[in-house]
This record gives sequence, structure tokens and C-alpha cells, in this order.
Amino acid sequence: MAVIFKVRGTRDLLPPETDLWNRVEQTSRSVFARYGFGEIRTPIFEDTQLFTRGVGEDTDIVSKEMYTWEDRARAESERAQSLTLRPENTAGVVRAFIEHKLNETGMLQKLFYIGPQFRRERPQRGRYRQFWQIGAEVLGPTWSGAESPLRDAELLEMLASLLNELGVRGWRLELNSIGSATDRPRYLAALREALQPIKGRLCEDNRRRADTNPLRVLDSKAPEDQELINTLPKIADYLDEESTDHFKQVLAALDACGVPYHLNSRLVRGLDYYTRTTFEFTVPDGSGLGTQNALLGGGRYDGLSEILGGPKAPGIGFAIGEDRLILTLQAQAEHDNANAERKLDAFIAPMGIAQNAKALSLAQELRAQGLAIELGDGMFRLRKSFETADRLAYRMVIVGEDEVRSDIYTVKHFAAGEQSKVPRSELAAALQAQVSSTSPSGR
Ligand code: HAM
Repeated sequence: MAVIFKVRGTRDLLPPETDLWNRVEQTSRSVFARYGFGEIRTPIFEDTQLFTRGVGEDTDIVSKEMYTWEDRARAESERAQSLTLRPENTAGVVRAFIEHKLNETGMLQKLFYIGPQFRRERPQRGRYRQFWQIGAEVLGPTWSGAESPLRDAELLEMLASLLNELGVRGWRLELNSIGSATDRPRYLAALREALQPIKGRLCEDNRRRADTNPLRVLDSKAPEDQELINTLPKIADYLDEESTDHFKQVLAALDACGVPYHLNSRLVRGLDYYTRTTFEFTVPDGSGLGTQNALLGGGRYDGLSEILGGPKAPGIGFAIGEDRLILTLQAQAEHDNANAERKLDAFIAPMGIAQNAKALSLAQELRAQGLAIELGDGMFRLRKSFETADRLAYRMVIVGEDEVRSDIYTVKHFAAGEQSKVPRSELAAALQAQVSSTSPSGR
């Protein structure tokens, strides 16, 4: 019988990897609790309209990535309905907020969620068709303080603390303000105008976006278009006084609590509900994510509740790609293990067979003084000696004709990139003096 395999873009998570998933989720839960968040669990499928209206018809998510089906009526009392596996959780949270009349509590709602999301994207490392998000939303009536720039800064500070507590290194916060619903039309008009004369020189995708959703051109990664995109008007120049002031206050609060950020005027994000503050946390190349270097994203959505038929309820939130977070932690741990490998004090490299015996006696002498030594062979080419030495030891001692004649040896210290000449009588001391603290001989 043919074996049945998992569907493309989905993953099985097995022990011991699931231990790491659980640790990440436990740490997140405990950080969220410290900031006063409670858990919300919304259905995995929703009415399709929730996403077409909430996330936006022209976004990649809605126009090409949703798992949507027509759910047949099973009884006369039911009606057929278009349903969709949730591609993200913010729209569902805001729907639940409206449905359960949480606005009427008058309290700021701080809700977090952990769960699978579904997007029919092209699978690659860090990008899956079923993936997990750890996210949170803060929303409520204006008088609850939901619109305050302090909420933005608090959320970003919480994320910085969470990533630090999880041990993610090298994260970078990219930040922008894309203005309010009243700023946007002015900016979009300027953007459309600037795009018209250059449209023909953009790639096909961007040419289409220039007409359908010009903001999307800004977050295009197409390398050939970057130079032109950088010449487009910047949204910061089109913010009204209120939005400018809001953003300034967010930045001042971040400065006050020492959260570093980088302003990125092209960060518009791929969902239509955003207003004002938008952000992403990325990790450096080599952190296990390949090109998918956005660990998390989020922003303010002051009009989303109204778009979904609810009361005015400004809000802000984020979602961490949990799969990407785990890949990053795994890659960083692997890197640490490789670096923590115990190395020898020195690799002795005779430059020819004639120097082999001398090299052996030198190794014997240094080992007798407590140093950890590996010995090469005169048959090795210099390059091979070099590579082997760099892998095994902190230093390389070169034993060539000149060295044997003068009894003065060339010592190369790899990490420091230094090379020095050391007389034999001082060799052991010189090697010890340069030894790093992780040396097996404990110096
Ligand atoms: P998003 O940027 O679409 O935002 O997704 C957030 C994060 O989910 C991304 O930064 C990434 O780490 C992860 N992610 C997205 N797509 C995939 C995928 N196919 N495979 C693996 N990971 C993925 C949102 O979803 C918004 N709801 C965030 C938000 C909450 N904004 C306000 N509140």
C-alpha cells in the first residue's frame, strides 16, 4: 500500500523538539502574565468575510493565500456559507471583542493567543502553510487609553524583554508610522503620482501593485526595483500633526526605557488594517531563517473594529512566527555549541618531512609542561596545516627550516590574527600567555 505523507508546507513536531516549543510557550505565557494579558482562543475557521474585510481584499493573504471553501448547509435551518481557515488571528480577536461586547466593560482588553494559522504560500525554510503564531492584542474604547502612545511603547518593550528572556540574540526592531485614515489618502495620492512615470520600469508584480495597492510596492523585495522604490515619497512627510506627535511620543517612551529601534520608512506591512505605528523584529543573517528574517510583526489598527461593524476601539498588537522563533533559537544554540568546542592549545606544523622529528620533540616538550598539543605532518601542504590547526587549536606553531636552524618559532594566534617569533625557551610561556579562558588546560 502506498504510504501517505503529510501535506506540502505542513510539519510534524516531534520530541525532543517539542520540549523547546513548550519552553517558548511557557516563557511567553509568564511574560504575558506579568504585563496583565489574559488568553483568548478563537476558532480556527471563520466566515470568509472577516478576512476579506478585515485584512483587505487586495492583500496577498486574501487574494491568493487563503484556504477557503463553501460549507454546505446540512439542514434547512442552515445556510451555505463561505468559510476560511484563519490566515492570522487579529481579525478573529477583534470579531470576538465585538461579539462579546468587551467594549462595554470600559476596560482596556489585553489578550494573547498561541495557535496555528494557515496561508497557502510557497513553502520554504521559515515559511509554511500551517504555522504557529504567538500573538497579543491590546484594544478598548478610547477612554480606556487604548490609543495612547504608551501602549505602543509598552508592547514593544514587552517584546524586547520576551526575546531577551528567550535568549534570542541580535534582534533588531524596525519601526515606522503609516499615519491615520485621514493621512493615508493624501499619501496614497502622492505615491500614485510618483509611481506613474516610473511604473513601466518596475517588475510585473510592482506594476500591478502600483495600480491596485501602491503601498505594497514599498515592501517589495524585488532587487531590481529597490533603487526606484527608494526615490518614492516617504509617508513620514505626509503625517498630520496628531500622528506625528503620537509617533514622537512612542519613540520618546522607547528611549526612556532603553529599547533600541531603527526607523524604516518603507515598513508598511502586508495587511490593510494598520494605522500609525507599524513594526517588525528581524534577526541577522545566519540565524536560521534564510530570507524569511522577520521574526514577528505588528502594529496599530485604530479603525479595525469599525471596519468589522463594531464600535470605535483603537488597538495595537503583534504576532510572533513561532516556527521562525524556534528555528532561530536552534540555529543560535548550534552556533554556541560549535564555538564552545574545547580547543587544543597549539597545533605544531612541520613544513617538510625533514622537520617532523624536530616537531615531535617540540610537542613532547610542550605536552610535558601541561599544554594540549596536536602534531601535523611535513607531508601536509601549508594550507592544509592551516585549516586543520584553525579547527583544532587556538594557535599554530610553524616548524620550518629557518625555525629549526635558529630555534626561534613562528606562532600564529588565530582569534587575534597575530603572528610572532618566539625563541624555543620562551615558547611554552608565550603559548600560555596567549591562551584564552576556554583552554582545556584551564588558563
Ligand atoms: P504577519 O506579519 O502577517 O502579521 O505575521 C506575523 C508573523 O508570523 C511574521 O512575522 C512571521 O514570523 C510569521 N509568519 C507569517 N507567515 C508565515 C508563514 N507562512 N510561515 C511561518 N511563519 C509565518 C500578522 O499576522 C498580524 N496579525 C500581526 C498583528 C497582530 N498585527 C497586529 N496584531
